Amino acid sequence: METILQTVGISESALGKVKDLWRSGSIRLDLPVIDLQHIWLVALIQELSLETDGTRSPDAEKLKKLLLEISDFATEHFSLEEDLTTRFRYPEHPGHREQHKHFIEVLNGKIADVRNGQTASINALVNFLLDWLTMHIQKEDKNYRDFLVRSNANLREYFQKLVNAREITIDRGQVALYNMVEGKSEVGEILNESILSNIIKIWNTHNLAVQIPIIDLQHIWLISMVVELDIASKTLGNTKRQKIFNKVIAGTVEYTREHFATEEKIMERFAYKNTQNHIKQHRSFVEMVHRRQQENETGDARAAAHLVEDLKEWLVSHIAIEDRNIYLGLKDQLSEIQNYVRELINAGELVVKKKQVDMYNQVCGLKKAS
Ligand SMILES: [Fe+2]
Ligand SMILES: [Fe+2]
Ligand SMILES: [Fe+2]
Ligand SMILES: [Fe+2]
Repeated sequence: METILQTVGISESALGKVKDLWRSGSIRLDLPVIDLQHIWLVALIQELSLETDGTRSPDAEKLKKLLLEISDFATEHFSLEEDLTTRFRYPEHPGHREQHKHFIEVLNGKIADVRNGQTASINALVNFLLDWLTMHIQKEDKNYRDFLVRSNANLREYFQKLVNAREITIDRGQVALYNMVEGKSEVGEILNESILSNIIKIWNTHNLAVQIPIIDLQHIWLISMVVELDIASKTLGNTKRQKIFNKVIAGTVEYTREHFATEEKIMERFAYKNTQNHIKQHRSFVEMVHRRQQENETGDARAAAHLVEDLKEWLVSHIAIEDRNIYLGLKDQLSEIQNYVRELINAGELVVKKKQVDMYNQVCGLKKAS
């Protein structure tokens, strides 16, 4: 958790201030996703305030990035609120939208001042941001919240649909911060459900079950990582998210190696006829990803999205054809393979985590862990 926060650039002190504000009850609405976004926005502003508190000379590059991120994220947040209040026919919707518009105008005007070298106005800006946001949440946002509660709006369903359709994105850094401040798992559940439904879709559309449990389990885990990458690549647009993305991609590559090692052990142990050729394909995949990863480090969000597409395509076609052939070649030895896998696990040469078993069971529609 903490490492993710460090990666996205939320510091200990900003976290402390957000926690205090949250405990005071002044920004808490008890609305899923909206609370998460408010917490994120407040944390970004706190980060900005720490950068300009006078204890160090502010880093102009960092200021510019933070301001842009606040402006981008506030825009994203406001458009979600506006969609929500339109959808549930909140009568004060027009006035609420006007307030948002005004805020963005003031913010962008001040950003332009800072860009033109008028850094003296930065303290006034920080105060404006914090005051406005807290007031707005306490009064205007609370009003639409009360309206939604009175009208019994099914918000869980509303947000789930948006996340599934990728119309809103929630990244891991935001969830990590939300959990540290609030400790509720509702947003995490919405996110996980969306990931799961995507995995199941890929799994069933391409008919990926190989019928060797350990290999299926690892494939499902790999696909879940690719789905997460896919979501992350769509929220790229600033350096913080790029960092999260690079971290997730490194994890995916690492797990791919682990998976290849398992497959290769099984093929070699059971003298699968096409072992050498299959291993060659694994090698060239690792090389391809490595090359693309290096390109991506300097690349933009579109390069990242392409890399994820390639990853997904390779995996899906390799699993559907090559890995499926392992099953066809070894299907008379399935129980021996199961015993061998148990040996590997007992010897610590193969690690299977509980959450991987859970996901395997959910995707394959099994109830009990095997
Ligand atoms: Fe809001
Ligand atoms: Fe609002
Ligand atoms: Fe595989
Ligand atoms: Fe393979």
